[in-house]
Amino acid sequence: MAVGKMTGGRVLLLLAALLCAAAAVAAAQKASDVNAFWSDYHPDKINWDLNAAHVLCAMWDADKPLTWRSKYEWTAFCGTVGPVGQAACGQCLNVTNTATGESVTVRIVDECGNPALDLDYTAFSKIDTDGQGDRNGHLTVDYEFVDCGDDIVTDDSITSM
Ligand SMILES: *[C@@H]1O[C@H](CO)[C@@H](O)[C@H](O)[C@H]1NC(C)=O
Repeated sequence: MAVGKMTGGRVLLLLAALLCAAAAVAAAQKASDVNAFWSDYHPDKINWDLNAAHVLCAMWDADKPLTWRSKYEWTAFCGTVGPVGQAACGQCLNVTNTATGESVTVRIVDECGNPALDLDYTAFSKIDTDGQGDRNGHLTVDYEFVDCGDDIVTDDSITSM
């Protein structure tokens, strides 16, 4: 019994250490003054179907429920700071228009060709509140990886500790 408790305590310590490390990594993943172009995914016209959109992340995320797929507007991510490929898929970014301070949370569904973002046009217009992005063909944004709020700690995982 005592051994069991000790192991549980060690597991908790390990978990806490891992969570701190994860938080530190997440906090470091941001960049300033990045170009954000737009892309017309029209997700509402294709039932937020990643296969129909022919995006990279369809390989891993096409089977996710509609609530997950439609929770945030989509983006292609090619920032120089942050994960690439599968590791980036499904993650969320808080994207802030440096010209206006307006921000939007988007989900990564694709990759792109240049060190930039391709925001779905809906998200692009939400933060292009002064119309400069439309006129210039792109926005200058800051981005930061944020928690998508997808993971809910279940009672199961608490009692198993
Ligand atoms: C996004 O970033 C802006 C600017 O730093 C901040 O004001 C806002 O609270 C952030 N939003 C989210 C959802 O993290």
